[in-house]
Amino acid sequence: MAGSKILIVDANAASRKFVAETLQKDGHHILQAASGKEGLIVAWRDRPEVIIIDPVMFDLKGEDFAIRLRSDERTSRVFLTALSSDPLPARVRSCMDAGFNEYLVKTAQAIPALIEMVGRALGDTTAVKEGGFLIAFMSAKGGTGTSSLCANIAMNIARNQPEARIVVADLVLPIGSIAEIVGYESKQNLVTIADMPAPEITPEFFREHLTALANWHFHLLAGSPDPENGSQLKVGRIGDIVEALKASYDFVLLDLGRSLSWFSQPLIEHADLIAMIVSTDLGTVTLTKTVWEYLRSKGVQAALLYTILNRAVGLEGLTKAEAEKIIGVEIKMAMPYLGGNFSLANNLHQPIASKFPQDTASVVLKEASQQMVDQARRLRAK
Ligand SMILES: Nc1ncnc2c1ncn2[C@@H]1O[C@H](COP(=O)(O)OP(=O)(O)OP(=O)(O)O)[C@@H](O)[C@H]1O
Ligand SMILES: [Mg+2]
Repeated sequence: MAGSKILIVDANAASRKFVAETLQKDGHHILQAASGKEGLIVAWRDRPEVIIIDPVMFDLKGEDFAIRLRSDERTSRVFLTALSSDPLPARVRSCMDAGFNEYLVKTAQAIPALIEMVGRALGDTTAVKEGGFLIAFMSAKGGTGTSSLCANIAMNIARNQPEARIVVADLVLPIGSIAEIVGYESKQNLVTIADMPAPEITPEFFREHLTALANWHFHLLAGSPDPENGSQLKVGRIGDIVEALKASYDFVLLDLGRSLSWFSQPLIEHADLIAMIVSTDLGTVTLTKTVWEYLRSKGVQAALLYTILNRAVGLEGLTKAEAEKIIGVEIKMAMPYLGGNFSLANNLHQPIASKFPQDTASVVLKEASQQMVDQARRLRAK
């Protein structure tokens, strides 16, 4: 998109000038800064869409620059790439961990790659709702049943619509749990995929290389298998991964767990539907109110919410009406307490609908999945 603001931060004046002139030819408005601190000031004042920075700087390391950008609301979601004079893998890793989206090393080939990447980043920031439906599963607190419901609702969506292609992506850090619930054992996961060269992360790749789970009727992008791997995830790649999934599946269900972070928040804001899972204890209900008010202040429409009250913790706790009153939103579905049966199905890696087809829970899951699809379709039709 011509006319976009791009900030170049580089202590090396010749390098900065060269990149600036190259991008200016494409009609972009170029801002420049010669140090990290100056770069932050310009970024917060002028709000560029893209920042290109050499992380090797005298006043502020690129990693610290990234952390400060990501923790400030004005720049938490800006596209940040390194054009770096440091080619060491350890440096690439530490920058990606700190919140860089991409890392290019200064070489002769870097400029075409940079131009291509800038184009892609600017395209992303104007992304409209197209492609598959994006359904974000989240909760305000852990242990509310988000992952189990995500997997079981995905299974029901798939069964209700045999012609549709469904994928579940487990984005919970530092460790995902959908693989365990569905009995997935392959080595491929979010971390290994995010580690692939960016041009290989395409819709075709996801169409052909994600495992199809026969019992569950969906494909899985498994999450991080352990915290060690999770800490090495190139988080900056997640946006591109989700875009590619949307281009190759009809429904993309994301398990975001209880994380609200610089990478999960844009996914929530771009979702077609937000499945908010609430357990019946007062603590979770109160936290849900806080999280929802925050999302609403970011412009998320109440129409996108599909709130499920899940009796994950037992028969006691608040009623639907009490929870609705506290959170201030309608609760669309109440999932009954299944006692040990829920864990039993999980431990056997089986969907509730297959293990306990006659149980009320199976009926509720089927109904919820149908309502969610209908709601998402209605919203798109507007
Ligand atoms: N309706 C229910 N009835 C009985 N047990 C339930 C119910 N919902 C969830 N559980 C149980 O609660 C536990 C937590 O579920 P799950 O892992 O899906 O939650 P989560 O919100 O994803 O947790 P985490 O914060 O660890 O990601 C599991 O043992 C699951 O079997
Ligand atoms: Mg979970």
